[in-house]
Amino acid sequence: MKTDLPVRVPLHKPPLGILESVRTGRRNVLELIPDIATQVPILSGRTVKRWHMVMDPGALKRILKDNVDNYPKSVVTKLMLNPAIGDSLFIAEGAHWRWQRRAAAPVFSHRNVTALGAVMSAAADRATDRIAALPEQGDLYQEMVTATFEVISDVTFSGSKTFDRDATHKAIETYMAGVAKVSFLDIIGAPPWIPRPGRMFTRNVMGRMKAMADQTIDARRAAPKKDAPDLLDLLLTGEDPETKRQMTTEELRDNLLAFIVAGHETTALALAWALYLCAFDPAVQDKVRVEAETLLQGRTTTAADVPNLPYTRQVIDETLRLYPPAAFLSRTALGPDELCGREVRKGDTVILPIYALHRNALLWDNPDAFDPDRFADPKAIDRYANLPFGDGPRICIGASFAVQESVIILATLLSRFRFSLIDGRAPKPVMILTLRPEGGVWLKVEPIGKQALAA
Ligand code: HEM
Repeated sequence: MKTDLPVRVPLHKPPLGILESVRTGRRNVLELIPDIATQVPILSGRTVKRWHMVMDPGALKRILKDNVDNYPKSVVTKLMLNPAIGDSLFIAEGAHWRWQRRAAAPVFSHRNVTALGAVMSAAADRATDRIAALPEQGDLYQEMVTATFEVISDVTFSGSKTFDRDATHKAIETYMAGVAKVSFLDIIGAPPWIPRPGRMFTRNVMGRMKAMADQTIDARRAAPKKDAPDLLDLLLTGEDPETKRQMTTEELRDNLLAFIVAGHETTALALAWALYLCAFDPAVQDKVRVEAETLLQGRTTTAADVPNLPYTRQVIDETLRLYPPAAFLSRTALGPDELCGREVRKGDTVILPIYALHRNALLWDNPDAFDPDRFADPKAIDRYANLPFGDGPRICIGASFAVQESVIILATLLSRFRFSLIDGRAPKPVMILTLRPEGGVWLKVEPIGKQALAA
């Protein structure tokens, strides 16, 4: 294992006052997590509102599972995402969440996700062509965003004449860039009536995109069934097994847009950070390459290969530990409770700083080091110490979709290219809704010829 460490967010040492946290938050929300959060189980304070940061696995289990009804998603999350994805599965609560989750669960069954593997393999091939055309180096984050957007748009609104992939991608990026600027006002608890710049503008962009999605859904209802159903087909026929309720066009659209928003950038980040880490540690990169080459013999990875690529999977797991795309979850306490012996009052903000949890010294040996061998035996890891996909009833519905896609694309690319770091261009992790590499992930790229492999 390498002794030097991959890039980190500089967590701050002394406690921050409110003005200072506003300034820091404008830069990087992750920097609001104090360094001490990587050494203690819980941290509480007040910045406008009372808050608790929880890094203790037992308390996290209570928030996400055992007492989940007391901890709905925070108002912040809803304010930010509602204009884009309505009251969809991602943000709904109570009965309205429950029926949508029941209706959508079979869409992400093992069988259906495996069947969607062909779309992921095709995206891996197209990424190969684009990367092969790069001039020796390139921004692999942008490449991965393109690849994962192709996957998610091909499994939601695929093959529809009315659906404009590029326009949708642009609309979502514009929207997210707009909310990212204002999200910090929400996180510190500023009331909803304070004007958030940009929200009006993004509303128009989203309006056009929603109209396009609705047309696509209506056209699909009328179209003959295809052999390989995509997420839209599956959701169209899906129903809540208890109430038999099916989704309206509007509900379908909000949920499909939720899959796009929740699913493409997060998976692109997992892949881009994995490529950075493999460039950072060439011995790990070679080990993935040997595993992939031995199995694939030059062909593209398929869904059926995924169980036979355990080391590649370990690299993805370790990447999601070090750079969890959803680095920060938040909840609002509905009523009083106790976490790690601390009093929680109604209305308190409960922050789940996944980034600090995954680097907490009480839970991990050498927490900042990149070591995929930690995941050699997944049973040896405390489930609530490693939460890249959350847990409990609101666990990410797309987790196995994302892992399958990441393994397919990573194994394919590492069997075809060697990636290495460029001096002075290390990526800088920044929290803008997700944990992004500011300025991209710039790497040198070298194609691997058959001869080079044989040597
Ligand atoms: C590496 C990639 C991904 C990561 C790290 C990730 C992470 C997460 C996390 C942490 C949550 C829970 C949020 C919370 O409890 O506050 C979540 C929920 C969700 N994710 Fe993902 N996600 C990924 C990929 C995907 C994909 C590919 C899809 C869909 C195709 C998806 C759809 C959703 C949805 C719909 C929810 C809400 C589920 C509910 O509340 O019932 N995600 N995700």
